Amino acid sequence: MNAPGGSLLVAEGLRKAYGPTMALDGAEFSIHPGEVVAVMGPSGSGKSTLLHCLAGIVTPDSGSIMYDGQDLATMSDAQRSRLRRSDFGFVFQFGQLVPELTCVENVALPLRLNGAPRKQAERTALEWMQRLEVDDLGRKRPGEVSGGQGQRVAVARSLVTDPRVLFADEPTGALDSLNGERVMELLTEAARSANAAVVLVTHEARVAAYSDREIVVRDGKSRDMERVI
Ligand SMILES: Nc1ncnc2c1ncn2[C@@H]1O[C@H](COP(=O)(O)OP(=O)(O)O)[C@@H](O)[C@H]1O
Ligand SMILES: [Mg+2]
Repeated sequence: MNAPGGSLLVAEGLRKAYGPTMALDGAEFSIHPGEVVAVMGPSGSGKSTLLHCLAGIVTPDSGSIMYDGQDLATMSDAQRSRLRRSDFGFVFQFGQLVPELTCVENVALPLRLNGAPRKQAERTALEWMQRLEVDDLGRKRPGEVSGGQGQRVAVARSLVTDPRVLFADEPTGALDSLNGERVMELLTEAARSANAAVVLVTHEARVAAYSDREIVVRDGKSRDMERVI
C-alpha cells in the first residue's frame, strides 16, 4: 500500500540538530514509485542528512517519515535495518567496494548476506554487471579498475536486490564529466527498467538533469524547484 497521493516515501517537518548546527530545519520530501528526484543544494545545506533520515540511517529529532504506509519512527532498529536490506539500495561517492573481494563478489554480496547460494548470487550479479557494461571486470578487484568502472560496479551492487528505492549521494562526485555522465545514463536507465525510485543527491546541475523532478535544500529547508524559480 502506498501513502495517499501515490507517494512511496514521504517526509514532513524534518528537524535534525548536531549541537548548535541545524542540519535539517523543517525539510520535506516525497517520491513516487519509479520516480527520479534530484536533491540539490550547496555543500553543508543538509542534503546528506536528509538522505540518511529518509533511508532510516539517522533518526530525526522531529518530523515524520512514511515509507509504503509505515512510519519509520514506530519501527525497531532491527526492522529498519531489515527494510534497508530488502527495499533500499545505496550508492555513495567512493570507497564503497570491499577491496579484498572481486567485482562480481562485491555485486553478489547483498544477495549472499540475504542467504542466497554463491552460484545463484553471482549469476544474478553478472546480469546486473552486463546492464552496467562492466561484466568483463568480474574477476578483478576494485583496486584494479578505474573510478568510473568502480562506480558502475557499485551501481550494479545497489540494484542487485531489486530495491524499490535507490539512494545515491553524489554518485559521480569523484568522476570526470565524461565518466560521470555515462554512470548517470546507466544508473537512471537501470533504475527505470527496474522501476526503482531514485533519491539522487548532487550539487551539479548536469547530474540533476537526469531526474524527473528537482528539489533544493538550503539551510536545512527543502523546496520544489518550481517554487524556487
Ligand atoms: N554527524 C555529524 N556531526 C556533526 N555535524 C554534522 C554531522 N552531519 C552533518 N553535520 C553538519 O550538518 C550540516 C549539513 O550537513 P550535510 O547534511 O552533510 O550537508 P550536505 O550533504 O548538503 O553537504 C553541516 O553543517 C554539517 O557540518
Ligand atoms: Mg553530502
